[in-house]
Amino acid sequence: MKHPIIAPSLLAADFSRLYDALKEIDDSGAEWTHLDVMDGVFVPPITFGSKMAGDLRPNSKTLFDVHLMTSDPETQIESFAKAGADYITFHQEAVIHSHRLIESIKALGAKAGISIVPSTSITCIEDLLPSADLVLVMTVNPGYGGQKLIDRCLEKVRKLVKIREEMGYSFLISVDGGINSDTAPMAREAGVDIMVTGETFFRAPDKKAIVSILKGQGNK
Ligand code: DX5
Ligand code: ZN
Repeated sequence: MKHPIIAPSLLAADFSRLYDALKEIDDSGAEWTHLDVMDGVFVPPITFGSKMAGDLRPNSKTLFDVHLMTSDPETQIESFAKAGADYITFHQEAVIHSHRLIESIKALGAKAGISIVPSTSITCIEDLLPSADLVLVMTVNPGYGGQKLIDRCLEKVRKLVKIREEMGYSFLISVDGGINSDTAPMAREAGVDIMVTGETFFRAPDKKAIVSILKGQGNK
């Protein structure tokens, strides 16, 4: 079985020490940094915007994986692309013309991701799969870290793996929410390429060890 990419989410970091958080991620063996952008509308909390992403960008060796939990992502993509986001992912539930938005993100030079909340079926994004670079399957309801993974969402990962294989598509599959040493094996078995991890990563005393455990290279 392959070892997925680990994407620690800054949402669980101390916002007064984000530089240190980036260094911890760099040193841990995690390849991506996940940036949860919340606007207080699509989800109740507000986190940060593109200025924060741009200021953080030169201080990290990892790829920047921006997750827009915003009700109007069309207005955000240009500033995040300029800020150096490698992947820009928006929610299918927030947008009508999602195919156009995927193409706009790519035209800005970033990779385009589409995300679905637990109540959205993958049939809703089937027509986007040929053009998407990433599908982010939410395994909790968005807005908060530290929630319990909803097992049923992993069925969507299995379906996506099957569709990708049958159709010859190339999108990556990411899971976001409730990933820990107990749930990571299930996600790996389902076939994920990327695992986002908030609380599990930032609460772990040994960051290298938790990354290798989540990847399936450790003992658990
Ligand atoms: C939730 C965010 C997640 C969050 C995951 O809305 O999209 O990225 O940081 O946190 P954990 O890993 O703690 O469930
Ligand atoms: Zn996220």
